[in-house]
Amino acid sequence: MLQDKIKQYTEEIEQITLSSAADVENYRLKFLVSKGVIKGLFEEFKTVSSEEKRVLGKVLNEFKQLAENKYQEGQELFGKSNVTATKRDEVDLTLPGEGFQLGSRHPLSLVRKEIVEIFKKLGFVVAEGPEIEDDWHNFSALNFPPEHPARDMQDTFFIKKQDGNDIALRTHTSSVQVRLMEAGKPPFRAIMPGRVYRNEAISARAHCFFHQVEGLYVDENVSFADLKQTLFHFVQELYGEGTKVRFRPSYFPFTEPSAEMDISCTICKGQGCQLCKGSGWVEILGCGMVDPNVLENCGIDSKKYSGFAFGMGIERITNLKYEIKDLRLFSENDVRFLSQFETEII
Ligand code: PHE
Repeated sequence: MLQDKIKQYTEEIEQITLSSAADVENYRLKFLVSKGVIKGLFEEFKTVSSEEKRVLGKVLNEFKQLAENKYQEGQELFGKSNVTATKRDEVDLTLPGEGFQLGSRHPLSLVRKEIVEIFKKLGFVVAEGPEIEDDWHNFSALNFPPEHPARDMQDTFFIKKQDGNDIALRTHTSSVQVRLMEAGKPPFRAIMPGRVYRNEAISARAHCFFHQVEGLYVDENVSFADLKQTLFHFVQELYGEGTKVRFRPSYFPFTEPSAEMDISCTICKGQGCQLCKGSGWVEILGCGMVDPNVLENCGIDSKKYSGFAFGMGIERITNLKYEIKDLRLFSENDVRFLSQFETEII
């Protein structure tokens, strides 16, 4: 009987909970489509007597309303995901893709890599060591006597320990030279890139940390001429053929004789400018013949072996290359600065 069926379906609808877009769709397919329940009931309605029609017409319309309301509710809750689903199907795959921004290497990394590559071609290997050092590796083995004022040359961050074995943040990567020589036998031909720390007030020209590449070559019969030729070659590779070099006598506890090396100013080509303070020359590194005491401290026979060492600040080299005037830019992480090196990805 039609009346019973309507009652049954009314109960069914009242019990249904629509809890997903799929539920709503299944509900629609069962009740609302042209071959669905409601259409079926209306077909049946046509066959009943006109007397019944008077009563059932109202009941059937109320049922239809109930069924549609339920669907509407479901649509409101889950209809949106239906819309996205269709939209997703409609994605136009022929549209050009969205571009994404490329990162870039830090200028100091670029220059470190360049320096390392040049020395690698000369047979130097890369050696690394700890940034937290003990007195022996940072000072004593390098011929700094205990109370020698030379220790003040490099303002050190010391860390006091309770057992009295104070440690320090390394002030130069020369400490890695000591570790290398202690651990092996000559010949040594290595460069040591790394971060170093000095207790200095931060300004455009100084920072409490910076980066170095030091180099060490120890073998039989290594001479100052080898040192000069190696560094001359390095400068030609890094700054171009024709860059001049000059050596000025200097002092380091760990080298004897010692020198500082200048190159002809990369900006004004030696004419004199602001960067070179009118002199035409800029200092880029310290170097010298490894002091025999240092070799002995590391267990190397200084009668048989000799060597040269050098050390440079990567920031300095980078400043000259890219004309950067403020050291602080290197550690501020300002993308306006860093993104200028985007094309330099290697
Ligand atoms: N260690 C020195 C410095 O940090 C540089 C240097 C290395 C000088 C090797 C001479 C030889 O200033």
